[in-house]
Amino acid sequence: RLELRCERDGAGGAELRLDAHPALSVSRAALLPPPGGPGDAAGQALPVESRPFTSYGSALHIALPQAPRAGQLVTLLIDYEAGEGPGVCWLSPEQTAGKQKPYMYTQGQAVLNRSFFPCFDTPSIKFTYSATVKVPEGFTAVMSATSWEKQKDNTFVFKMSQPIPSYLIALVVGDIVSADVGPRSRVWAEPCLIEAAKKEYDGVIEEFLVVGEKLFGPYVWGRYDILFMPPSFPFGGMENPCLTFVTPCLLAGDRSLVDVIIHEISHSWFGNLVTNATWGEFWLNEGFTMYAQRRISTEVYGLPYTCLEAATGRALLRQHMDATGEDHPLNKLRVVIEPGFCLFLGVNPDDTYNETPYEKGYCFVSYLAHLVGNQSKFDAFLQAYVNQFKFQSITADDTLEFFLEYFPELKEKGVDSIPGFEFDRWLNTPGWPPYLPDLSPGQQLMRPADELAELWAADGLNMEAIEAVNITGWRTYQLVYFLDQILQKSPLPEGNVKRLSKMYPKISKAQNAELRLRWCQIVLKNSLEAEYSKVKDFLHSQGKQKYTLPLYRAMWGTSEATRALAMETFSATAPQLHVNVQNYVKKILGLAGAE
Ligand code: BES
Ligand code: ZN
Repeated sequence: RLELRCERDGAGGAELRLDAHPALSVSRAALLPPPGGPGDAAGQALPVESRPFTSYGSALHIALPQAPRAGQLVTLLIDYEAGEGPGVCWLSPEQTAGKQKPYMYTQGQAVLNRSFFPCFDTPSIKFTYSATVKVPEGFTAVMSATSWEKQKDNTFVFKMSQPIPSYLIALVVGDIVSADVGPRSRVWAEPCLIEAAKKEYDGVIEEFLVVGEKLFGPYVWGRYDILFMPPSFPFGGMENPCLTFVTPCLLAGDRSLVDVIIHEISHSWFGNLVTNATWGEFWLNEGFTMYAQRRISTEVYGLPYTCLEAATGRALLRQHMDATGEDHPLNKLRVVIEPGFCLFLGVNPDDTYNETPYEKGYCFVSYLAHLVGNQSKFDAFLQAYVNQFKFQSITADDTLEFFLEYFPELKEKGVDSIPGFEFDRWLNTPGWPPYLPDLSPGQQLMRPADELAELWAADGLNMEAIEAVNITGWRTYQLVYFLDQILQKSPLPEGNVKRLSKMYPKISKAQNAELRLRWCQIVLKNSLEAEYSKVKDFLHSQGKQKYTLPLYRAMWGTSEATRALAMETFSATAPQLHVNVQNYVKKILGLAGAE
C-alpha cells in the first residue's frame, strides 16, 4: 500500500510509474478511497503494465483515472509476489551457519529493492514505512525499523517512523536469536553463533554511539542492533537503520575488525540522515562516513592506530587505481551514470562500486578539514551540516555551498579554486587525490612493519635481523599493513615467501579474514603452489565481494594452474554467492554471456 501526495499539478499526467523488476509479479493495482471516506475498501482496479526499463529493473506503469492535483493524496494498493530477484535472497539450510533451517534476507543498496517491492527506487526520495510479516513456526523476522513487535500467529509488526530512502528497507527471516550488548544494542545471530557474537561486541557498542553523538549530533534511530548474516553475505557491513547487517567474518574473537561497526554506525549521520541524492555522488555517503569513522576511532583508539587503519585504506585505493588506471572515469568523485531507457542501455549503479568514493572521498573531506585548519571548528561544521540536511537527499553542490557559507572567510579567499585543488577538479577529474591527509602519527606502528617488509624482500635473507623482530604483540592492522607492503613488493625472491609462511603461522594460518585475504593474495602473486588450497578454503568459507573479486582477478591473471583453480572453486561455490557477486566473477572468468 503506497500513500502518495502529489507535489505538482500535471507532474506525471494520469500515469504513475514505479521501479519494479521482472522477478516481481504484480497481479493487481487499485486506487483506494480516501481514508474515512465512502468507497469500496478493495479499491478501484487500475490498468497496470510492466515495461522493460534497464538490465537491472523494469518500469511499472499504472494508469490513474485522472491526473492528481498538487497536494492531493493518492493511496494505491498493489498485490504482488516477490520471487528469486537480486534483492531477495533465499538460502537453503546448507547455506546457513547452523545448516538446519532455510533463511531469507534482502539487500537493497544500491538498486536491488525494486525486486523486493514496487517503489521509487532512488535515494532522492524518503518515506516512512510499516510492515506486517507472517513467518512459519520456528522463525523470527527482523527489519530496519524503529519499532518491532511480535504478535500472535508468528506475526511481526514493524514501523520505521523516520523518513528513509528505499535502499534502507531490509528484512531477514531465519532461525535467529538475540543477546543484549549495550543499553540500546543487541546482537542477532543464528543460535550457533550467538555466544561468539555477544562476546565479540559486549559492552563496546555504546561508546561508539556516545562519541558519534558528541561529534555529529543526536542519534535519531532509537536502537542500534547488529545482525550477523550467513557467510555468503556480500558486504562487510550494511548500514540498515536500527539494524546493521554484518558478515560473520567480523567474529574474529578479538574485536580486531570493529572498524566495520564504527563505519556502519557513522552512516547513522552520513548516508542515513544526510543522503546522496544520486548514486553518481555516492562519495557523499561513503567519503563522509570514512571521515566520521576515523574521527570516532581517533577519539576511542587514538591517532596512531587510526592513521594505521587509514594507511591500509590508502593501500586499497592505490591497488584499485593501479588496476584500473588512474584516469579511469570511475576514479572521480562525481561519476556519470548513464540513465537507461531501454533494456540494454544505462549503467547499473551497482557496477560502479569501487574504492574511490571511500578513500578519495575521505581525502576530499580531510582536505576540507585541512582548509579549516582546526579540528573542533571542522567537527562543529559537520554537526551543523547534519543538522541542516537531516532527512534530506542532497548533491555535492549543496554540501560545498554549505561549507563555503559556513566559513565565509574561506569563501572570500576563494578556496574552491586554488590551482590544483579546485573543488571542481576533486569532483570531476579522475586520478589520485591531490591532497593526502598526514598519516605520520601512525609511523610508530607502521615503521616496524615497513622495516620488516624490507628485510623479507631482500635477495639474501638476513635471518638474524628478521628473527630479532618479534611480531607476537602486533595488532591485526599492523599485520595487515605489513602484508600490504609484502604484497606490493611481490613477487619476492624465490623461496622467501615459503620461509615467511613457516616463520609466522600467526599470519599464514590466520583465521582473521583480513589477514587471510592478504595472505591468499601473496600466495597467488608469488605462485606458492603448496598453499593454493588456502585460497580455495577461504573462498569456500565466505562470499564477501571485496574478498572474492580480488582473489578471482589474481587467479585469472597468474597461471594456467591458478586459472584452473579459479574455475574449480567457482563451480563449487557459485550457488552460495550473491547473484551480483556471481555475475562479477563470471565476467572475470570470461563466463559472462553478452550482457
Ligand atoms: N553501504 C556500504 C555497503 C554497500 C555499498 C552495499 C554499496 C551495497 C552497495 C557499507 O557501509 C560499507 O561501506 N561497507 C564496507 C565497510 C568498510 C568500508 C569498513 C564493506 O562492506 O566492506
Ligand atoms: Zn559505508
